[in-house]
Amino acid sequence: MFTNLEHLGLAVHDLEAATALYTILLNQEPYKKEHVASEGVDTVFFRVGGSKIELLAGTTPDSAITRYLSKKGEGIHHVAFEVADIRATMARLKEQGFMLLNEEPKRGADNKLVCFVHPKSAAGVLVELCQEIV
Ligand code: CO
Repeated sequence: MFTNLEHLGLAVHDLEAATALYTILLNQEPYKKEHVASEGVDTVFFRVGGSKIELLAGTTPDSAITRYLSKKGEGIHHVAFEVADIRATMARLKEQGFMLLNEEPKRGADNKLVCFVHPKSAAGVLVELCQEIV
């Protein structure tokens, strides 16, 4: 079951500059900065009501975010939904023909298990499923 639009992931070239910009735009400080070594990204999170904005910058030349930025430039990179049971949701989506980018849930930023759905099977949008690690 999908329970929330958890966050929007925004790809940015300069994390410090984008953090300063969004601090002004949203009129609040971020609540978290986190390096996710497995993905080669630095992230910054802002709360917006029950949802979040995740700023993402690549830290290595071959990280998915670095490659995305060089191809498409800055912008909305992914839409993340909170799900109650990530394994059950992954099994259902796979059964229904969606292309999952990871076979097993993996550890993402902000204390979450995550799985990505390929944009080719989601109308051009990279979809992230996430479930809080308790
Ligand atoms: Co995300």
